[in-house]
Formats: sequence, C-alpha cells, structure tokens
Amino acid sequence: MAETLILTPDATRKARYEELLPQIRAVIAGEEDYIANLANIAAMLREAFGFFWVGFYRRSGEELVLGPFQGTLACTRIPLSKGVCGYSARERQTVLVPDVELFPGHIACSSLSKSEIVVPLVIADRTELVLDVDSDRHDDFSADDAFYLEAVIALLRERHFG
Ligand code: SME
Repeated sequence: MAETLILTPDATRKARYEELLPQIRAVIAGEEDYIANLANIAAMLREAFGFFWVGFYRRSGEELVLGPFQGTLACTRIPLSKGVCGYSARERQTVLVPDVELFPGHIACSSLSKSEIVVPLVIADRTELVLDVDSDRHDDFSADDAFYLEAVIALLRERHFG
C-alpha cells in the first residue's frame, strides 16, 4: 500500500477530491479493519484539505460516539436529538451548515468552528455513522463537498457493509 498521498499542488478543491478518491479506495482496499480505515480516511481528508476538524461519530444506541478523527479535542458523545451530527443521523441526510451559530442546537466542540458539513452512512434505513467536517471559516462547504464526501461514504459502505 502506498503510504504517501499524491496531491497536485494548488489543485482546486474539486480536482483534489478527484485525485483523492481513488487513493482512499486503494488504501481501504488494503485493510480489512474498519477502525483503521476510518482513521486513515480522516487523516487523508485532513492532509488533502487542511480541514480544521474531520472525523467520525459512530452510532451506539441513541447516541453518536466519537470515532477516529483529526483535529482538536472533541465532544465524546452526542445524543441523536442534538447537534448537526444528531440531526444528520436522524434525518439520514447530508447537512450543510454555512454558519454554525445559526443552526439551532449546534454543539460547539470548539469555538473556532464556523461552518460544518455532516454526511451519514445509512444502512437499511439506520444511520451507522456520520462523517463530520468543520471549518474555521464561514460558508466553507458547497454542494461539491457534499457530493464528494458522500462518495467517500459510499466507498466505506462498499468496503465494510457491502
Ligand atoms: N458540531 C457538531 C459536534 C461535533 S464537533 O463539531 C467535532 C454538532 O453540532 O453535532
């Protein structure tokens, strides 16, 4: 397995997702451990985009529990009834939040977080985990991020829930 990401300098975010996706696919194809793959996906997304915080919360009963991530210390448990992550898990859909302060019930793990995107992995109508990405800039995520981060989740689903 290649352990170095190949990233074209100064690529647009979209171009960078395009070059990253096959590398994520290759890395997780080479490892069967789910947690190891979550950890490397978080690391690859962080390295490729420099996101302020990127990581996973896994479903455990009526809560989401912190999984592998890159970034600052984070909240460990999020009830499904709370936060952007809980909302995404409950509604089973991607949630884009341009300004976290305007999202009712947003959980501020860090006061530096300004915008956020959360993508769920849904199996048989149940959210199994969410991918959460935070930015320290307002309005940092677009439909392109939603599209490509959903593609990352699809790779994970294929690999571990196929
Ligand atoms: N902001 C999230 C909580 C997780 S942290 O951002 C890492 C939320 O509102 O669900």
